[in-house]
Formats: sequence, structure tokens, C-alpha cells
Amino acid sequence: MKTNYKSAVAATLFLLFAVSAFAQFPPVSKLPVRQDPPDPLVMFKGTPVTSKAMFMQNRCAELKAMFQHYEYGTLPPRTNISSRVEYADKNCFGGKATLKLITIRFGQREPRIDLMLVVPNHRKKPAPVFMGMNFGGNYALVTNPMVPFPRSAPRRNPPAESQRGKQIDVWNIEQSIDRGYAVATCFCNDVEPDSVNATNGIREILFPAKGDAAYGTIAAWAWGLQRIVDYLNTDKDIDSRHIAVVGHSRLGKAAIVAAAFDNRITMAIPLQSGTGGAAPSRGNADSESVKKINTSFPHWFCDEFKKFNDQPERLPMDQNCLIALCAPRPVLLGCATEDKWANPTGQFEMLKSADKVYRLMGTDGLAETTMPQENHVIDSTLGYFIRPGKHSMTKGDWKVFLDYADKHFGKPK
Ligand code: GCU
Repeated sequence: MKTNYKSAVAATLFLLFAVSAFAQFPPVSKLPVRQDPPDPLVMFKGTPVTSKAMFMQNRCAELKAMFQHYEYGTLPPRTNISSRVEYADKNCFGGKATLKLITIRFGQREPRIDLMLVVPNHRKKPAPVFMGMNFGGNYALVTNPMVPFPRSAPRRNPPAESQRGKQIDVWNIEQSIDRGYAVATCFCNDVEPDSVNATNGIREILFPAKGDAAYGTIAAWAWGLQRIVDYLNTDKDIDSRHIAVVGHSRLGKAAIVAAAFDNRITMAIPLQSGTGGAAPSRGNADSESVKKINTSFPHWFCDEFKKFNDQPERLPMDQNCLIALCAPRPVLLGCATEDKWANPTGQFEMLKSADKVYRLMGTDGLAETTMPQENHVIDSTLGYFIRPGKHSMTKGDWKVFLDYADKHFGKPK
């Protein structure tokens, strides 16, 4: 009862906030047309941002409000979680790791997150962790028969014993364990199913998404990632200073949004995240346009974003500003040569534009200014790599993530 009351109050405050945020900015038709992405170091009304403090206080608040108002919708509020370890296998990967199955609840039966956490056994200290959502359900990432099927059907295949372990090569958890990192993941549908009329996600049940500023699926997933951080901060096996969010494609969009809005996430690795992620909304002829993404996936963003379909040049921010919100935390963008849809060159441009914010924060920013050759990793605080091949997440990609984490977190002990 108590929790229901609290959720009702949170939901009301959330709606009020959504309405007031909506009132703050001009309608899309009144926004100026700008061919180039807006400067992350210039306030909406034109005042230059001249100090770190001014960026952190004024510009970050303004950018967060703009992203919620014009693109993702108002992120749901933080809510109290309760968690329980349902199962632990100390002999995972031949004794190298412990696998834990944890349920994270929000005061009611559903929705809930079924988190799978795999932690290396041989370590002196709490482990740094890669955290992210998966497309196939936890059981597709490991062979352990105790990991249950997801409660709703994955994107491509219905849950079936034949699918167990089928995505081992996507998450490559053992490779991270061997390098001293933990991996925490859940099925994205636990938080919000990827469909227009989802009835069993947080947008319907927990924080009803209503009105023009109603949040879309990307914001819902980002909120879910933040609730996983809530849990990780309570787990003694995990080093809460070293939490890297990883996500592929649409889940990469959610990953960068989660990090931009939550500085407990200390590294962001959105892989091939494309439009609505790390690629500019002011795209190119080969990349996914705002109109296309809003037409194919009308549930991903807020309604206001659709007003930019034929005029993305009116956006008062672009995805360079989303990356800048992560400053000074490390952000690594990964691309693939054949994945022009996710706009590899545009993503590099977004980093180049966010660089000045990172320099203002005293970091090395993006160390190189020309688009790198294939397989050359730029591993500065703003990092980038492009590898040959298609839209996918591979063992080789994870090796780059691990090397990058070693550099910026320090090698796990
Ligand atoms: C589609 C979509 C992309 C998305 C991708 C994915 O291609 O257009 O925006 O990133 O699916 O999630 O795999």
C-alpha cells in the first residue's frame, strides 16, 4: 500500500514536471534553422559557456531539459527498488566466475527486471562491470540450464531450449571474466517491450506515458539501465566507481541516454547506435533520417521529435550535445564499415564537436581529428573505432571495449 502511494505521488510529480518542461521551450516551427549541429558550449539563447561550472550547472540542465522535451520525452523518475538473489552458481565457466540471478522489483509484481550478473572469482577487489540490455534473453548468453527463459518473446526467436547459449558470441562473457570484469545484463523487454502498443512495460504500468512529452521506449530502457545501477551499487562484488554501460544499436541509443542522464555510469560504450544515439539527427544520404526512424519506430521517441521529420535542422541540440552531457566520463563509439545506416562518419563528427567540452573539463578529449583507418582505435577519453564488417556485436568489439576499460578504469586487480 505504502509503495503504491509513493508511486502515485511520483507519477503525479512526474506529470507536472513533464508539463512544465514542455512549457519552457518554443514550438518547433519557431526554432531557427541551423545546418550545423548546435554548439554544446553555447546556451540556447546564445550566451557562451565559459567555465566548467557553467557547463555542469547551467548548460547540462538546459540540455537535459531540451533532450527530454524535443526528443526522448521526460524520463520517468527514480523509484525505490527491491532486489533478491534468486540463484547463484559459483562454478560458472569451470569455476572462474559466479553467476547470480537477481530480480529487481519496483513495488509491485510486474514489471520487474531479471538481472543476470556474472562476476570473476579470482580477484582481490570488487570487480568493474560492463552493464547493458540484451535482445535475446539472458538464457541466450550462457549455457547454464538454470537461467530461465525471458517472460516475453525476444525480438527474433520465441524462447526455446534450442536458443539457449545461441548468443554467447554476441556478449562473450567469458572473455570479460578472463580479463577481470563482471558483466550484468537483462532482456530489454523486461522493462519495456519493443512495440507501439506494449501493455506490459513501465510506460503502461508503472509510469504511464501521456501527452506530448510522453517518453518513448528508448527513455524507458535508459531508465531500466539506471535501475540496474541502483542494484549494482548495493552488490559488494561490484566496484561502483567503475560501471561501463554497453549497448548495441537501439540498445546503444538507450545506453548513451542512460549515461548522459546519470553520472553513476562512469563509462559509455554505445556500439553502432546510429540515429537517436551517437549519430547526428542532421544525417547524410546513406544514414537513417529522423523521418525514417520516427516512421519505422513511432514508439521510440516523444511526439515532439516527429515534428522534426522534415526539418531536423531546427533541432536546438544534436547528438554531439548528448555525448557532451557525459563529460568528463569516457565515451567510446564503435562503428562498422558496412553499417552506413548508423552513420560512422557522422558519429565521428559528433565526437569532434563534443571535444571542446571534454577539453574544458581538463581531459584529452578526442586525440585525433581525422577519421581513422579501419581497426585503428582512438582510445582517448572520447574514443572511436571502425572495423570491417556489418551491424553486429562481436568478440573483437569486446576486446576493444576491454582494452579501453583497462586504459581508463585501470586493469582490474
Ligand atoms: C534498425 C533501426 C536502427 C536501429 C537498428 C537496431 O536498423 O533503423 O535505428 O539501431 O534497427 O536496433 O538493430
